[in-house]
Amino acid sequence: MSTLTEATLLPRNANLSTAANALARAGQSWFIVAAAGQLIFAWYMAALYGMSALRGDWATWNKVMPRGWNEGDTVGNVAIFVHLLLALIVTLAGLAQLVPAIRRAAPRVHRWTGRIYIASAFGIAFGSMYLMWVRGAVGDVSQHIGSTLNAILLVAIAVVALRHARSRDLALHRQWALRLFMVMNGVWFFRLGLLLWLMIHQQPVGFDAKTFTGPFLTFLVFAQTLVPLAALELYFRAQRSDVARRKWMAAAVIAVLTVVTAGGIVGATMGLWLPRL
Ligand code: HEM
Repeated sequence: MSTLTEATLLPRNANLSTAANALARAGQSWFIVAAAGQLIFAWYMAALYGMSALRGDWATWNKVMPRGWNEGDTVGNVAIFVHLLLALIVTLAGLAQLVPAIRRAAPRVHRWTGRIYIASAFGIAFGSMYLMWVRGAVGDVSQHIGSTLNAILLVAIAVVALRHARSRDLALHRQWALRLFMVMNGVWFFRLGLLLWLMIHQQPVGFDAKTFTGPFLTFLVFAQTLVPLAALELYFRAQRSDVARRKWMAAAVIAVLTVVTAGGIVGATMGLWLPRL
C-alpha cells in the first residue's frame, strides 16, 4: 500500500517542484531584465538632469520637459528638482531592496533603504500631484486621473508594506513591497509600453503626438499601474498553488512578459533615452 502511494505521489511531487522551479526562474529572469532596464533609466536621469544641474545648465531640462525649469517659478522648479532627485533615488533603492544577498548580508542597510524608499514614495506621490494638477503637465484629464490612481496606490501600498515590516510579518511585507515596486515603476512601464507600441506601428496610432492625447495613451496610463499588479498577483497565486499546471502557465506568461519588457527597454533606450543625451 505504501509503495503504491509513493509511486503515485512521487511523480506528482517531482512535477510540482519542477514547475515551482520554472516559476522561480521565470520571476528571476524578469527581474534581471527589468533591473538592467532600470539601471539604464537611472543612468539617463543622472546623465541628463544630474549632470546639467551640476553645470547650472537648467535650459537642458526644457529640451525634454515642456515645463522643466521656468525662470521665476521657484516652487515649481524646486518641485521638479525634488521629483527628479527622488526618481533617481527610488529607481536605485528599489533594485537594491529586492536583491536577496543585500538583505541577508546587511539587514540594517535594507531597513534604512526601505525607510528612504517609503518616504520617497510619499514625496513623489504628493510632489507629482502638484506638478500635474497645479503647475500643469502634458496630457488630458483622463491621463491625469490615471496618474492620480498611481499616486494614491503608491501612498496606500507604501503604508501597508511599512506596517507589515514593523509587525515583522515578513511574508506579507515581501508581497506588499513587491506591489510597491511595481506601482513605483508605473511611469517606467509607461515609457516601455509607448516605445513598444511605436516600434510595432512605426508611427503614432491611437493618439495625437502633438497634443500627446488619445485613447491609446489613456489606456496606457491606467495599464502602467494595473497590468504589472495583475501579473504580480498571477505570480503570487501560482506560487501558493499546489497545482503544477498553474505554475507552468504563470511561468509561461512571465516568460512572455520578460520578452515584452526586454523589447520595451530596447525601444525606450534607443528611441527616448539615448537620443536625449
Ligand atoms: C504618480 C506618479 C508620477 C507622476 C504623476 C509624475 C509626473 C511627472 C510630471 C508632471 C513631470 C514633468 C513633466 C513636464 O513638465 O513636462 C515628470 C517628469 C519626470 N518624472 Fe515623473 N511622475 C510620477 C512618478 C515618477 C517616478 C516614480 C519616476 C521615476 C522613478 C519619475 C520620473 C520622471 C522623469 C525622469 C521625469 C522627466 C521627464 C523624462 O525625462 O522622461 N516620475 N513626472
